[in-house]
Amino acid sequence: MASRRIVLKDPSRFRDPANLTWERYVGLQARERERYLAEKATIPADALAYKTVSPRYLERAIDQFANNYYSEESATHYIATAAANAPFDELKKCCLFQLADEQRHLEMDREVFERAGIPERDWLGAWEAPGTTCRFFRHVLELEDTIEILVKANFVAEGAAGPATFAVLADGAEARGDVLSAVNHRARIRDETRHISFARVLVKALIEDDPENLDVIQRWQDESLQLFAEVARGGERREWWEGFLGSYYKIALPLGLRPSTVSV
Ligand SMILES: [Fe+2]
Ligand SMILES: [Fe+2]
Repeated sequence: MASRRIVLKDPSRFRDPANLTWERYVGLQARERERYLAEKATIPADALAYKTVSPRYLERAIDQFANNYYSEESATHYIATAAANAPFDELKKCCLFQLADEQRHLEMDREVFERAGIPERDWLGAWEAPGTTCRFFRHVLELEDTIEILVKANFVAEGAAGPATFAVLADGAEARGDVLSAVNHRARIRDETRHISFARVLVKALIEDDPENLDVIQRWQDESLQLFAEVARGGERREWWEGFLGSYYKIALPLGLRPSTVSV
């Protein structure tokens, strides 16, 4: 499908809402890292070695672990492409800081797989199995245009899988004895919130810059949500799917986007 490109004719419409400089970013990440390590240090050794979860939990959790790990792994690649092709510096800066965030998330999720004792040869199969978010991320990895990547991955996907979804995942993991996943999700939320906000500012700027951009963004939204719908197919993750759409529409509808007709 040939996607139409859109440009921000007046780049001064976009400003990083977190107002980060290199110095502020490094300081923020250092504090974040300290906080993460302090939280991890409170996890009892048994729990950290995945001895407190049921064997049945681990069997089923491999899909969730793969969804976490490979979406972060994909993010390190697509956001690097977005940075390399960024049309102006302020946007490039946001992408580069995000690249560092995603690399950290990727390492956190690798540790989960390893501590849970799941052999690396099983990871990719779990990700490529039906019912994961693999189809969506493989699509984004084929894109080269910064604006399209940020609209689809940051605005739609992160906007949907945003804070509410990660809070549900964190609580669910903790209730089953998987404290490391819970700590990881809660750490990740703080960065993802920043990724969503700069994408939101970008989308708003694009629509103000040229109202016709709304149609293209609407089509990118429809394509993205359709690729995600597979996760909810068969009604298995109905509740997850409703929350996912709910989080996204909360940020998208006020900007003039319409709900997508998605076949599940
Ligand atoms: Fe991430
Ligand atoms: Fe992110």
